[in-house]
Amino acid sequence: MKIFVAGAAGVIGRLLLPKLVKAGHQVVGMTRNSERTELIRSLGAEDLVLDIFDREAVFSAMKDIRPDVVIHQLTSLSDRNFQDNARIRIEGTRNLVDAAQAAGVKRMIAQSIAWAYEPGDQPASEEDSLDMDAPLPRKTSIDGIVALEQAVAEISEHVILRYGMFYGPGTWYDIDGEMAKQVQNHQLLATDAVMSFLHVEDAAHAALLALNWPSGPINIVDDEPAAGIDWLPIYAKALQAPAPEYQEGRQGWERGASNDKARIVYGWEPLYPTWRTGLRQL
Ligand SMILES: NC(=O)c1ccc[n+]([C@@H]2O[C@H](COP(=O)([O-])OP(=O)(O)OC[C@H]3O[C@@H](n4cnc5c(N)ncnc54)[C@H](OP(=O)(O)O)[C@@H]3O)[C@@H](O)[C@H]2O)c1
Repeated sequence: MKIFVAGAAGVIGRLLLPKLVKAGHQVVGMTRNSERTELIRSLGAEDLVLDIFDREAVFSAMKDIRPDVVIHQLTSLSDRNFQDNARIRIEGTRNLVDAAQAAGVKRMIAQSIAWAYEPGDQPASEEDSLDMDAPLPRKTSIDGIVALEQAVAEISEHVILRYGMFYGPGTWYDIDGEMAKQVQNHQLLATDAVMSFLHVEDAAHAALLALNWPSGPINIVDDEPAAGIDWLPIYAKALQAPAPEYQEGRQGWERGASNDKARIVYGWEPLYPTWRTGLRQL
C-alpha cells in the first residue's frame, strides 16, 4: 500500500517508517524541517517537506500522492508547548482529514492519548467517556483530543490509538529527557496518581498493526497501570537519582487505562508488557 506518514521524523514516526517499509509498503514521510529529510530517506521512505498549517499545500501534496492510508503522528511536544500541541490537534488534524478526503483516502490511523478519560476509580476502558467537563488547563488538551478524534472519525475507516505515556529513546523519560531531569533535581513527588506507560517501540508497532484493525478508539498501554508511589521510586533508582518524597492524593482522571480490548479482542501483544522492567532498561 501507499502510506502517508505525517510526523515521520518524530519519536514514533522514525520507529514506524522502517516497520512499514519492511512490511512491503511504499511510504511518504512528512516533516516541516528540511534538515530531517535525509533521516526520512535513510529509513526507506520518500521525504516530503510540508507544514500542516499550510492548508493549500497539504491538499496539493495529498492529491499528488494519493495514498491508500494516512498515519497521523503529529504532535508539537518537543518544547512541551501544550497550546501549540492543541493547535496541531485541532487545526492540523482538520487540514489533514479534509485533504485526505479530497484525495479519496479511505483509512486513517491517528495518535491520541489514554489519559483523556473522565474521572473514575478503575483503569479506563474505551467504553468510558472523555473528560468533557475538565477545567483549565487540562481542558486545553481535552479539547484538542476531542477535535482530533472527531475529525479522524469522519474518514470511513479510522483507528484512533489512545497511547499511554511514552518512555524509551527520545522521550521525556529517556535518560536525558525532561522527566529524568526533574527526578534528578528532586522536583517530582510520588503521589497516588495512576498512569499507564507505553514503550515507544510498542507505540510504533501498534500503528503498523492498525493497518488491519477495525475502526474506533483503542487503548494502547502496557499491562500495569501504575501509581506514582510505585513507579517513581523504581524510575529514580534506575536513574541513580534521589528517592522521591511521597504526597498523598490523585486527581479523579489519574486512573490509568486498560488494554483488555487490544489484548483480548485484537490479539495485541506488547513487546514491553510492564514499565517495571522497561524503565529499568533505559
Ligand atoms: N503519549 C505520549 O506520552 C507522548 C505523545 C507525543 C509526544 N510525547 C513526548 O513529546 C516529546 C517530543 O515528541 P517528538 O519527538 O515526536 O516531537 P514533536 O515535536 O512532538 O513532533 C512530532 C512530529 O510532528 C511534526 N510536526 C509538528 N508540528 C508540525 C507542523 N506544523 N507541520 C508538520 N509537522 C509537524 C514534527 O515534524 P518535524 O520533523 O518538522 O519536527 C514531528 O515529526 C517526546 O519526548 C515524547 O516523550 C509524548
